[in-house]
Amino acid sequence: MLQSKLPDVGTTIFTRMSALAAEQQALNLSQGFPDFPAPLALRTALAHHALEGHNQYAPMAGLPALREAIAGQLARHRGVRCDPDTEVTVVPGATEAIYCAITACVRPGDEVILLDPCYDSYRPAVTLAGGVPVHVPLHTPAFAPDWERIEQAISARTRLLVINSPHNPTGAVMSREDLLQLESLVTRHGLFVVSDEVYEYLVYDGRQHHSALQFEALRSRCFAVFSFGKTFGVTGWKTGYCVAPPALTAELRKVHQFVCFVAVTPVQQALADFMTREPDYPLGLAASYQHKRDLFCAALADSRFTFQPSAGSYFQLLDYSAVSASADTLLCEQWTREPGVASIPVSVFYQQPPPQRLLRFCFAKQDEQLLRAAERLCKI
Ligand SMILES: Cc1ncc(COP(=O)(O)O)c(C=O)c1O
Repeated sequence: MLQSKLPDVGTTIFTRMSALAAEQQALNLSQGFPDFPAPLALRTALAHHALEGHNQYAPMAGLPALREAIAGQLARHRGVRCDPDTEVTVVPGATEAIYCAITACVRPGDEVILLDPCYDSYRPAVTLAGGVPVHVPLHTPAFAPDWERIEQAISARTRLLVINSPHNPTGAVMSREDLLQLESLVTRHGLFVVSDEVYEYLVYDGRQHHSALQFEALRSRCFAVFSFGKTFGVTGWKTGYCVAPPALTAELRKVHQFVCFVAVTPVQQALADFMTREPDYPLGLAASYQHKRDLFCAALADSRFTFQPSAGSYFQLLDYSAVSASADTLLCEQWTREPGVASIPVSVFYQQPPPQRLLRFCFAKQDEQLLRAAERLCKI
């Protein structure tokens, strides 16, 4: 019998809830992906490059034209200069970059600090590397990092800390002050950082995204991870990138070349074309997603759910304390069946879920779907 290296891991909740939503023909606000099409020019470019015959392996670190476009975007939107040859790696999805960064950094017995609730790929990656995940809860109700508590969790074995802003599942956005605290902490303790910034352009109400790359000392110890899937609405293309200093990039690539080796060639060509032609496309995202958030929240005004409008990402948390005392995992399934809206229970993002009653709804959906979902939720 094969002894599992991940005995606690089953099929992810995202797969299960999407399957249940399809079976029940429920409105699916569970998994994080848009139900509306990506820009036509981007899809046309993919078809063009596939038809033109760009269908063989790309260079291991990514197509030079795409790495140039990424460096250009970072300079233009974040004021960050980076060398596309030695600091940018194109990967088949942010998840692969996170896995490679963790594998490159973490040795058996090393501790890795994860801030709960957190995206579900971090912990298994740490475990597979022989590391020990140390979970520190974010401070509720704002889901802000509690830097004192994080510092208390650091030991002589701590090697890495993973942050995620804008945050899945809570929508919280780290402040500049948070990034400064993080920079001071990791410098003092000699830690590395994985900064998961896949929702970087989705910040609302005039907030700004602060990238770890904008803080010099932090950047020198950081793997910053991004996803084209989120920014260009093509999660199924599974393409992202990692920006890290040359020495860290070299180690990341050693792992990447034996995990996936390369990302998909015509997808990279299409992204490079689109980014060159429409360099400011991502800057329009905040307004269009904020509109969706506001539409959904306004339509829930008369519901029995309570909530704070999401600050970032495309997720809205709803608190059902006034409705039921049941477990979120149960209610999530129940409400997918009747009234027919699928969501994700927030407890699954925790190692030790606190006594809170929260469900996560993805609002990257057509307006009409959001309104229909809210109408059904108002009946609960
Ligand atoms: C916080 C976070 N990180 C990473 C990812 C994965 O991105 P990708 O699809 O590019 O692997 C997701 C996707 O949902 C996410 O929410």
